[in-house]
Amino acid sequence: MTDWKKDIASKHLEFEAGTLDESHVDKNPILQFEKWFGVAMEQKVQEQNSFVLSTATRSGLPSARVVLLKGVDTKGFMFFTNYESRKGKELEENPHACMTFYWTALHRQIRIEGEVEKVSEQESKEYFHSRPKASQAGAWVSPQSKPITRKELEEKHAAFLSKYESEEIPAPQHWGGYRVIPEHIEFWQGRTSRLHDRIAYTLDNGKWRIYRMAP
Ligand SMILES: Cc1cc2nc3c(=O)[nH]c(=O)nc-3n(C[C@H](O)[C@H](O)[C@H](O)COP(=O)(O)O)c2cc1C
Repeated sequence: MTDWKKDIASKHLEFEAGTLDESHVDKNPILQFEKWFGVAMEQKVQEQNSFVLSTATRSGLPSARVVLLKGVDTKGFMFFTNYESRKGKELEENPHACMTFYWTALHRQIRIEGEVEKVSEQESKEYFHSRPKASQAGAWVSPQSKPITRKELEEKHAAFLSKYESEEIPAPQHWGGYRVIPEHIEFWQGRTSRLHDRIAYTLDNGKWRIYRMAP
């Protein structure tokens, strides 16, 4: 068996997948995100829409987990979850979040910070109904972030699905989307010798200021 504790300390990957320059990025970071996301799609980066969502309590205690990006519009970035989950509660008392994407194959990281709002009920409903029926039932029966047994979860799921066998499942009030409205976005491109490119956008009086940051 390898001594991974020694190996991780000595592991050294040179990042040589590309470069990023402030003179070539889009003036709008959401459009720059869409450009990079397009490349991740073309290159078939695995689960390119998964990202780490960080939230915090009112007093600033952080928590983080992976969720899926389900939409991007001119206002921001959307994901869907249970409003009564731990993240939902934290967003209720402190509506700010950070999103972190890391695409290993491209040596690229994107960090997005901003205020968070719930998407409209209509948007949540539309997305809810686009999901497979078994996932819709999952959203109803899982009291996300609370203790539960596997048996209880599966029994509730089966009973719910059989109840709605021939009917449309209504969208639950406790489940829906959030939109992160960016105030700061950073694009990171891994470079050799740890001299990475970091191009940041910060919203200043309604205008995006673009600048390079030290790696
Ligand atoms: C690849 C991946 C994708 C996930 N996507 C979602 C998602 O879109 N929405 C969601 O609520 N949870 C998603 N989860 C589960 C969350 O990571 C987390 O376990 C759950 O939302 C409860 O988090 P909380 O207790 O911090 O609120 C995903 C997990 C993984 C590993």
